[in-house]
Amino acid sequence: VPRVVSGVQPSADSLHLGNYVGALRNWVDMQDDNDCVFFVADLHSITTGQDPATMSERTRVTAAQYIAAGIDPERSTLLIQSQVPEHTQLSWVLNCITGYGEAARMTQFKDKSVKQGAENTTVGLFTYPVLMAADILVYQANQVPVGEDQRQHLELTRTLAQRFNSRFGETFAVPDAKILENSAKVYDLQNPTAKMSKSAPSDAGLVRLLDPAKKNAKKIKSAVTDDGTEVRFDRQAKPGISNLLTIYSSLTGTPVGTLEAEYEGRMYGHLKVDLAEVVTQTLDPIQKRAQELLDDPAELDRLLARGADKARGIAAQTLREVYDRMGFLPGV
Ligand code: TYM
Repeated sequence: VPRVVSGVQPSADSLHLGNYVGALRNWVDMQDDNDCVFFVADLHSITTGQDPATMSERTRVTAAQYIAAGIDPERSTLLIQSQVPEHTQLSWVLNCITGYGEAARMTQFKDKSVKQGAENTTVGLFTYPVLMAADILVYQANQVPVGEDQRQHLELTRTLAQRFNSRFGETFAVPDAKILENSAKVYDLQNPTAKMSKSAPSDAGLVRLLDPAKKNAKKIKSAVTDDGTEVRFDRQAKPGISNLLTIYSSLTGTPVGTLEAEYEGRMYGHLKVDLAEVVTQTLDPIQKRAQELLDDPAELDRLLARGADKARGIAAQTLREVYDRMGFLPGV
């Protein structure tokens, strides 16, 4: 059975629609015919600074959203990255086979470090993609479902797996990125040529999974649209409408072409009203379920501890093999 691995950073309060459409939602169906490992990437979230007071809560809220969105902790392995130390241990080994220049070419690092300024940029941010490679390789992943923005990191992961295998002997599966064409990138509602992101300068274009339905509906109805009146998918000429169509299509499973036909002769406003309703219908059960889970944090923590235990069973085996291949003394 193919192994699938993916994760999301625990971000403030709630995940957003980009995380859901680009990642989380696609994970759910993959549980049917894969052995899935999903984790909350809390260690990645400290690369740009963190607030200890909110960390544990953000981590629980994120895990709760996974389950509420349909990740079944019985069928899949659900864990918190920091609770499985093998991720970090393997990342050190991978750091030592990653070229400095190779890491310096990562566009997400370049963008973030420019934004933050050199004095605020940590070594952790620089080696972030290497930890990500470790997250994936430690479980011998075959497939990694992510959004478009992670493509380059997946390329690095493949390179590192192949490099390790050729230097030290076949050890790692070489994973494929699974980037779904129609949902790989959700754009900011107010700035539909930039990806929807928690770090966008304004909050108005961001739909949070756990925000009140009214607030999200209002944001969708105020989404920037384009010149003209025709509801048609055209990423260049109509980025705003194209984004709404993408979201609509991926939440309902209706092909974009069918939506275009349905909205022929109707106005942008109709599409927005209907999409607001679709988003509400999608998020409502997720919000309810997440709240139930968060009402019993001790039970949630127990469930996550079980997940971490299960995960360590796989991860420790990979790490042992890696250490053996590299010639470290056997463990005690
Ligand atoms: P993160 O937390 O930024 O995003 C999590 C997932 O959501 C996708 N995504 C989007 N998809 C479509 N449109 C958007 N606007 C959008 N914004 C985010 C991302 O592509 C991603 O799939 N480094 C990763 C977390 C990570 C990871 C891993 C992922 C750490 N280790 C190992 C896979 C495997 C990250 O920061 O994603």
